[in-house]
Amino acid sequence: MAVISVINQKGGCGKTTTSVNLAAGMVKRGYRVLLADMDPQGHSTLGLGFNPDSLRQTVFDVIDAREQDVPLSTVTLEVASRLTLLPANVFLSAFEQSMSGKAWRESRLAKALFKVKNQYDHIIIDCPPSLGLLTVNALLASTHVIVPVDSGFYSLSGVKKLRETVEMLKAKVHHDLDIKHVITFYDHKSSFNKDFMNDLKKFSGQNNFFRTKIRRSIKFNSSQRLGKSVIELGSKRCGVAFRDYCGLTQEVIDWTKSVQNFRISFLRAGNKTAVRSRMVRSINLSYKGYGRDVRLAGVFNNWQPAPMNKNQDGSWVSAMELDPGQYEYKFVVDGNWITDPDNERVEVKNNIINSVLVVK
Ligand SMILES: Nc1ncnc2c1ncn2[C@@H]1O[C@H](COP(=O)(O)OP(=O)(O)O)[C@@H](O)[C@H]1O
Ligand SMILES: [Mg+2]
Repeated sequence: MAVISVINQKGGCGKTTTSVNLAAGMVKRGYRVLLADMDPQGHSTLGLGFNPDSLRQTVFDVIDAREQDVPLSTVTLEVASRLTLLPANVFLSAFEQSMSGKAWRESRLAKALFKVKNQYDHIIIDCPPSLGLLTVNALLASTHVIVPVDSGFYSLSGVKKLRETVEMLKAKVHHDLDIKHVITFYDHKSSFNKDFMNDLKKFSGQNNFFRTKIRRSIKFNSSQRLGKSVIELGSKRCGVAFRDYCGLTQEVIDWTKSVQNFRISFLRAGNKTAVRSRMVRSINLSYKGYGRDVRLAGVFNNWQPAPMNKNQDGSWVSAMELDPGQYEYKFVVDGNWITDPDNERVEVKNNIINSVLVVK
């Protein structure tokens, strides 16, 4: 059994499309598959025909720290014969804050999946477009990683950053992961695509790619609107989109065949050995102005305003743990969104200005 995370911190590069169609491809080949949606946007959940907003319980309830663990089986949805979904919705965006300072927060998902490992042949995890705590949970639960790479301008830098995180995890928790890239949105007529491919292969190595490239096709959009995979809709309706994901499924099955069981981090998670990201920094953000209710919203909490704590001197403070990087944010003071007078600012678009926190 293999646990495969589909990861790239860039949005829109085909993570969800790959997760949903790979899951469907494996089901078609007779395997029992659990698709775990780890993105608060709930796109895999939506893509399989469920309305994320109407769900009472999601993956968040399973991995959130509570007095009594919520069993995974009370949350999962049976999508079709042999295909089970662990759904997500926007509540999952509270995970990072809810787990702040708690031990074993990086291995909550691994622990939950460990308990159901015998019920599935493959587990596929659709990750959010960030490298925060949710993605670290996915990585520690995984045996394999698939990185969808579109040939957009920023992809290569994203792949480099991801590589660093995976290397860090390997070193810190001895968690070994097999990684392969899959090219998405491929257009063989574009010379830009060819140049990009050459750069990427130089950087990542020839053997780290699937032979199958996922070509650009409008069928992905239309299948999504129907809440179905292109695999279910079939070759007559979906042509190259269907064929490409069948090809990828075959390669992934061959690639993961040798994995007999969960790797060591699962056992560690089961035994409650703490793992901690080496890169994480403790950050205090403070607001010194006047306000009765002061909140903090930023990319680190998906722009969901979270209450700040009031100090005795009247200032407001939020403690966070963040990986090195740049984070846009704003304070919400008595309902008004304002920038931080004590920090750098950036104009995002059309007069929208955010503050920028740099974590070194
Ligand atoms: N190969 C492709 N060709 C054309 N459109 C695609 C392809 N792969 C994905 N899409 C579309 O691009 C959008 C983003 O894809 P998605 O899988 O949701 O990306 P991510 O999960 O990385 O954010 C979706 O509307 C999807 O239908
Ligand atoms: Mg997605």
